[in-house]
Amino acid sequence: MELKCKCGSTCISTAEEILIKAKNTFNPCKNCLKPSIKKFTPISKQISLNSFDSQFERCLCGKRHLDLVMAHVLKLMIRENLQSKNATLRNACAPLITPAYPLQASPYLGENSLIVLSPKMNQKCAEKIMEEVPEVKAVIKGESQNVVGLKDSSYNPHVYETLAGCDMRCDIMNTPKGPICVHKDQSEIHIEFPSHKSAKITSTSLFIKKNFHNMDFTVIDATSGPGTLGIFSLMAGASKVIFNDLWKPATHMTALNLEVNGFKVDFFNEKLEKCMIACGKQFKVYNLDIRNLNSVLDEKFDLCIIDPFPGVNPKEFEDAAKKLSKKVLLI
Ligand SMILES: C[S@@+](CC[C@H](N)C(=O)[O-])C[C@H]1O[C@@H](n2cnc3c(N)ncnc32)[C@H](O)[C@@H]1O
Ligand SMILES: [Zn+2]
Ligand SMILES: [Zn+2]
Repeated sequence: MELKCKCGSTCISTAEEILIKAKNTFNPCKNCLKPSIKKFTPISKQISLNSFDSQFERCLCGKRHLDLVMAHVLKLMIRENLQSKNATLRNACAPLITPAYPLQASPYLGENSLIVLSPKMNQKCAEKIMEEVPEVKAVIKGESQNVVGLKDSSYNPHVYETLAGCDMRCDIMNTPKGPICVHKDQSEIHIEFPSHKSAKITSTSLFIKKNFHNMDFTVIDATSGPGTLGIFSLMAGASKVIFNDLWKPATHMTALNLEVNGFKVDFFNEKLEKCMIACGKQFKVYNLDIRNLNSVLDEKFDLCIIDPFPGVNPKEFEDAAKKLSKKVLLI
C-alpha cells in the first residue's frame, strides 16, 4: 500500500522515519527563549497584538514556544472578532501537535507541527492563520468535547470541518513491545492524547500475557478505530488479527497504520467488496457493524477486543463479541 497523504504532501511516513524525526523535534535549542505568558491573563494585556508577525520571538533555530504560536493564533482570532479582546491562552483553541508523544515540558514548534481546533473558527481566519503562522499545518472547526465518528449504528456520524491545510497527524503510542505510530485524519477520527502509559494498551498487554503466554493466539479488534490495539496484538505475537470498524474512515486509517508500522498491506480494496477494506499476511480489515461481523468470519477467534466510545452501552457489543471469540476484553 502506498504511504501517500490525500493532500499529496509528505504527512505520512513509516514508523521508523517518524521515530527518528520525532527525537528532539520539540526540544528548544540553547538559544530558544521561554516566554512568560500567563495563561489566565488576557493576551492583549501581555503582548501588543501589533507586534505579532511570523518572525515575532522566533529563535534563529526556527522554533517558537507553543504559547507564542497559540498567542499568534489568538491574535488573528481577536482581529477577526472570533474571540473577545479579553481572550486568554486558556480559551484560545485546542492545540494538537504532530507527531504527538508524551512530553516532559511544553514543546517548541517548527513548521507544520500543529493543528488547531476551535468551534469559533471561520474560513477567513483559518486562511489567515495558514498564511501567517508557519507552525500550523491545519485549522479545524469543531468542539473538542464532541466525539468524532460514529458512536454506534443508531447514531448519526459527526465530523469536524477542516477549513484550511491538511488535518493528517500522528500519535506515537508507547507499548511494552515498542512504539506504534497511529496516523489520524483529525477531522474524521476521535482525538486521543498519547500518555506515558496508555491504559488500553496496558489492559490488552496484561490480558494477552495472562491468557496466551507462549501460545499461538488469534484476535479480533472489533471496534478498531485507527487500529492501535490490533496492531499491538500483532506486535505481541498474535498469528492472525481481524480489524473491524463501522466507521469507514477508521478502517482506512487502520490499513494505513498497519503499513506504517511494518505490517504490509497486500491488497487495498477501494470498492469494499464483501465489506473488506484491506488484507495482508496475518490480517484482514472489515467495515461492518460488530453485530454482523459473524457473516464474514468462519472460525472462532481466541480473543475479541471491544472498545466502545464512552457513553455507549457495551452490552450488545459484548453479546456480539461472545459469538465471535472464546474470550472478550472490554476496554
Ligand atoms: C473508542 S473508539 C476505538 C478506539 C480504538 N480501539 C483505538 O485504540 O484507537 C470506538 C470505535 O467504535 C466504532 N464503532 C462504533 N459503533 C460500532 C459498531 N456498531 N460496530 C463496530 N464498530 C463500531 C467507532 O467507529 C470507533 O472507531
Ligand atoms: Zn496531508
Ligand atoms: Zn532555538
